[in-house]
Amino acid sequence: MKVVEEEQRVRVMDGPWSPEEVIREIVDGGVQEDPFYVMDLGEVVARYHQWRELMPRVEPFYAVKCNDDKLLVTTLAALGAGFDCASKAEIELITSMGVPPERVIFANPAKMASHIRYASAVGVDLMTFDSETELIKIKHYMPHARLVIRIRCDAADAQCPLGIKFGCDAVSEGPRLLKLAAVLGLDVVGVSFHVGSGAGECAVYARAVALSRALFAAGAAAGHRMALLDVGGGFAGGTGSDLHEVAGVINSALEQHFPDRSVRVIAEPGRYFAAAAYTLATMVHAKRELLGKEGDEESHTMYFINDGVYGSFNCVLYDHQNVRPRPLQARSDNLLPCSVWGPSCDGLDCVLPAASLPALAVGEWLVWRDMGAYTIPVASPFNGFPLPTVKAVVDRRLWSMLRELWPLSAAGLACEPPRSDIGATDVVSDGSDVVSDASDVVSDAHQLCAVFVECALK
Ligand SMILES: Cc1ncc(COP(=O)(O)O)c(C=O)c1O
Repeated sequence: MKVVEEEQRVRVMDGPWSPEEVIREIVDGGVQEDPFYVMDLGEVVARYHQWRELMPRVEPFYAVKCNDDKLLVTTLAALGAGFDCASKAEIELITSMGVPPERVIFANPAKMASHIRYASAVGVDLMTFDSETELIKIKHYMPHARLVIRIRCDAADAQCPLGIKFGCDAVSEGPRLLKLAAVLGLDVVGVSFHVGSGAGECAVYARAVALSRALFAAGAAAGHRMALLDVGGGFAGGTGSDLHEVAGVINSALEQHFPDRSVRVIAEPGRYFAAAAYTLATMVHAKRELLGKEGDEESHTMYFINDGVYGSFNCVLYDHQNVRPRPLQARSDNLLPCSVWGPSCDGLDCVLPAASLPALAVGEWLVWRDMGAYTIPVASPFNGFPLPTVKAVVDRRLWSMLRELWPLSAAGLACEPPRSDIGATDVVSDGSDVVSDASDVVSDAHQLCAVFVECALK
C-alpha cells in the first residue's frame, strides 16, 4: 500500500494555535517570498466528525475535484470517507492510495471511453449517467457497471449552478432512460442529484429526495433493484458555516421517503471538507499610488501580491468566491481605498478591484481565510509565477491518533523540526513523537479516539 508523498510536510503543534500565528512565524524570518497555504488537518477531522454526527445515515464521498491535495484526501481516506471521482486521473489518485474501489463513485455523467475502461480495470463499477448516449457507451465499455441515474433539481440560489450541464428531467426523461437501461441489460442501482455548488437554499434537498423516490418507483417498475440514493454536494464550507439546518432537512426527507434502511445513502461533499481548512498567505511585492483627478475616480493604492487569478484566486473567476484579505500585522489605521492585483502581466489578473485596507508597505503579508475549495487544483503557474505550497499543521494529540490510521503512517509523512516559539512539539522524522505527558494525551484523546478508530475501521 502506498503512503502519502514523502515531501508533504506536517508541522505538529502543542497547544492552541491559529493559522495567523503559523504564518507570522514562517514569514518573520524574512526569507519567505512566495505565497503559501497553512492547512489545518484538525478542521478536516472535526468536519468529518460533525458530518457523521449530524447525518449518520449519509456516507460522505468526498468530491476530489474540489481539492486534490494529497494530505486532505489521505486524511479523509483514513477516516473512512468514500470518494467522488470525475476522471481517470482522480480514480488513479484515490485507488493508488489503497482506497478500495467500492469506496469510489465515478460521478461524471459524461465520461470518456478510456476513462470508463480504466474504471473497469481497477474495479470502480459505480457510475452516473443522464443520457441515452452514455447508456450506450457504458453498455459497450462496461456492461457490468452499477449505474446511478442523475436527475436535475436546482437550488433557488447557488454559487455555481450545475443543472445547466448535468441531470436529466426526473419526470419527462428519467423513466424512459430507466426503461432503456433495462432493455440494454444494464443495472441501474440508484438515483443521484446535485443541487448546485454553494447552494443557498436547504429546502431543495427535500424536493430532490422526493423526486428521487419517484425515480426509485420507476426504476423498480422497469426491473431494476434500486438501492442507492446519492444526495450530491452543495454543502457550505466556509469558517462558521453550519451543517445543522441542511442536515435536518435531509434527515427528515430520508425518514419520509426512504424509511427503509436497506437503501444506502451517500453524498458528494466537496467544499464542506476543503474550504475552511486552508488559509492562504500572500505578500505585497509592489504598489502604485493612483492620484485621483478632479471628476475622475478617487485616489487609491494598487497593491500587487504574489498570487493572482491565474493561481489560487482563479476561484474569483470560476467559483464566484467572495475573497477577503486581512493584513497579517493587525493595526488600527484608517481603511483606505485600494485594489489588489495578481503578479502576472495580464490586466485581467485583478483579485479585488475595490477594497478597503490600512496602508500596506511592500513586504507586508495578507491573510485569506477559507481558500481550500476550488483553488489549488485549478491554479496554473502562468507567466512563471510559482504556485503556493501547502504547509500542513496538526495538533499533537490528533497527530498521535491520525498517524496510526490507515493509510496514514508515520513513515509516510515527514514532519518539520520543532519550532519552540509557537509551541510546536518535539517530533522526529521517523514519526516517533516524543510525548512527554502521555497520561494527559490519553485522557483528553479518549473520546476522539473512539470516533477515529470507528471511522478508520470501516
Ligand atoms: C458531481 C459533483 N459532485 C460533487 C461536487 C462537489 O460539490 P460541492 O463542492 O458543492 O459540495 C461537484 C462539484 O462540482 C460535482 O460536480
